[in-house]
Amino acid sequence: MHAALAQPPLRLAVLISGTGRSLKNMLDRIDSGQLHAKVVLVISSTPTAHGLQFAEKAGIPIVVCERKNHASQTEYSREIFQHCHACRGDVVVLAGFIKRLTIPADFENRVVNIHPALVPSFSGKGFYGHHVHEAVLEYGVKITGCTVHFVDNEYDHGPVILQKAVPVMDRDTPDTLQSRVFAAECEAYPEALQLLAEKRVAVDGRRVRVAPPSDGSDAGSSP
Ligand code: GRF
Repeated sequence: MHAALAQPPLRLAVLISGTGRSLKNMLDRIDSGQLHAKVVLVISSTPTAHGLQFAEKAGIPIVVCERKNHASQTEYSREIFQHCHACRGDVVVLAGFIKRLTIPADFENRVVNIHPALVPSFSGKGFYGHHVHEAVLEYGVKITGCTVHFVDNEYDHGPVILQKAVPVMDRDTPDTLQSRVFAAECEAYPEALQLLAEKRVAVDGRRVRVAPPSDGSDAGSSP
């Protein structure tokens, strides 16, 4: 048996607001055996999120939690994390979730996000969706990418788990760049979650250290 399978599947609570492409990708990776996890709950910030249909189809429990029904970010976050706690989520996965959250102490280093650039470049307040790729092209950098990171209480700031670089081409538009970066995201997010499922991730201040696989399969590989 693969060493990772000796662990129970990582229980994911996935938060969405939009198309749910990242959620769909995770479900596909779980189905194909590349990600040893189970999506135990999907929380949407809106009842109209297209991504809810993927959860419905997969028979995953759904909660819609709208910011407008809560007086403050603190109260909103409290309700969201109550659900994450109740479903016994190991990790909370932000998958295109657009509302700000306050992370409670018991979820520190248990909430992850993917940002469509190489943090800390093109990140922080205002850098989301197309704005990121527009800014990358405007600045003229030759390499961008994506970053999977733990979420803390600052924008795009928590410890970085994994990054993938993506070249910027002369002919790129925000759309073409977005799709190339999204293809990298589809590899990076499940890969990072699989590291968590295998319990190979240790956080040391801002540094995230990844232990080699317990079956020694990458022994001798370069860093
Ligand atoms: C991705 O571009 C990701 O970088 C950002 O949200 C987008 C995915 O949203 N965090 P969705 O899965 O298409 O709703």
